Amino acid sequence: MRRPASNPRRVTAPPGRVRASGGLGAITGASARPSGPPGQSISLVEVTDLHKAFDGNEVLKGISVSAERAETLVVMGGSGSGKTVFLRHVAGLLRPDEGQVRVFGVNIEKLSEEELLPLRRRMGFVFQGAALFDSLTTYENVAYPLREHTNLSEPEIRERVLHFLSLVGLGEESLELLPAELSGGMRKRVGIARALVSEPEIMLFDEPTAGLDPTNSKLVADLIAQLKSGVCDTAIVVTHDLDLTKTIATRVAILIHGRFAAVAPLEEILRSREPEVQAFLAGEATTA
Ligand SMILES: Nc1ncnc2c1ncn2[C@@H]1O[C@H](COP(=O)(O)OP(=O)(O)OP(=O)(O)O)[C@@H](O)[C@H]1O
Ligand SMILES: [Mg+2]
Repeated sequence: MRRPASNPRRVTAPPGRVRASGGLGAITGASARPSGPPGQSISLVEVTDLHKAFDGNEVLKGISVSAERAETLVVMGGSGSGKTVFLRHVAGLLRPDEGQVRVFGVNIEKLSEEELLPLRRRMGFVFQGAALFDSLTTYENVAYPLREHTNLSEPEIRERVLHFLSLVGLGEESLELLPAELSGGMRKRVGIARALVSEPEIMLFDEPTAGLDPTNSKLVADLIAQLKSGVCDTAIVVTHDLDLTKTIATRVAILIHGRFAAVAPLEEILRSREPEVQAFLAGEATTA
């Protein structure tokens, strides 16, 4: 038995940020950061009328939603409803059949892979199932984005890796372990540390608590909630975990039959009289 994981510490940025300056200007000729008057909400992600089908299977039938700076947008929906497909469009990993995906103010649906790279570096992904490199240790997994995208020295890399691992509640004893030697909860947290290490402007989480026991689910939920006041204040989280949603959501979008049946703060969603939304929530309550 491995020791239970310690509580993640308060999530703050380390000294001297590594955040990539973008290279966005090369694409847009504009400033890399969306700007506007103080207090005005700014969409980091704006999806408009997104359609996607696979071999005639219409998965997304015209969905529109935005994620504003400093909010945590949670996308809920049943298994197979298209949540991962939605998130992969935001990351530019899938191309829409119709509609627009704007990220950091840039329409990404027609960008080449090369043009997408600087934008992707400003996003942190935590994929469904963690998606760690099986042959790399915890340390090397978290160091990977820094080795690929920065010129940091080895001592600087080590400092950052240790910092972000400690933020997710992992200590030096995990450094040399391979993914197969980690528990499911630890793997998730290594995945989160690897996504955070580049200090993204927006985090994308796909089912961050799936497969975790209630204790580890709560640790991950608290960790995501703490990101807001620390390293990354904006997130899109895809989940069917209502407890997680209650902990982190600024707004919730419910994906049913390829459309958003509702996009609103959770309290409003919970009060919704929309039959599809009620049926979905009743189903979640019984499976939670
Ligand atoms: N690359 C692909 N090729 C063909 N079909 C796909 C592809 N990706 C997803 N699909 C289909 O799109 C639908 C939605 O899949 P998706 O993975 O987005 O569901 P989900 O809501 O994330 O489900 P879960 O909660 O189980 O993760 C499914 O019917 C799936 O088979
Ligand atoms: Mg999925």
